[in-house]
Amino acid sequence: MTQVQDYIRTIVDFPKPGIMFRDVTTLFSNPRGFRMAIDQLLHPYAGERIDVVVGLEARGFILGGAVAHQLGTGFVPVRKKGKLPGTVISEAYTLEYGEAVVEVHDDAIAPGQNVLIVDDLLATGGTAEAGIKLVERLGGQIAGCAFVVDLPDLGGRKRLKALDIDVHALCS
Ligand code: PRP
Ligand code: ADE
Repeated sequence: MTQVQDYIRTIVDFPKPGIMFRDVTTLFSNPRGFRMAIDQLLHPYAGERIDVVVGLEARGFILGGAVAHQLGTGFVPVRKKGKLPGTVISEAYTLEYGEAVVEVHDDAIAPGQNVLIVDDLLATGGTAEAGIKLVERLGGQIAGCAFVVDLPDLGGRKRLKALDIDVHALCS
């Protein structure tokens, strides 16, 4: 039977030499694959109280929006620096092939809200940790972080586990 990882392709040397880029656009464009990914991402959280889904730019928006729709919650984007129009809080982080700053609107999450963070891929965990910090600075509680792909060699899962964060990934 076809599984989520069968819909993901690998592009060698993108965006830099040496990077094996796990391209989820082929998963997203397949009706069966996309539905399977959304259903599996939200499965562990379906019986939990999730107040809001936070998606990490950019592919976390596509997945997180669909997950929020299925869970019946709102959706909050964590965006790269300079994209959000309102007042923001920011976190800097490093990733497998660069550095970046992410931001969230400072009124996007209410204190005490239970938050599910969604992204396509966990590598070093830098992006997810920055998202976690933003949510926690606003008083939100992390119910979990859900990814389609975990790249275990890059240590992200261990990094998030060390923060006592529940990590859910569909394939590695
Ligand atoms: C990719 C991916 C994750 C992040 C994972 O996004 O979608 O968000 O890297 O890497 P990390 O665990 O080492 O932080 P990217 O930074 O390429 O941004 P994009 O989605 O805007 O292209
Ligand atoms: N983000 C960080 N590393 C990545 C990889 N190898 N493939 C896709 N996205 C990534």
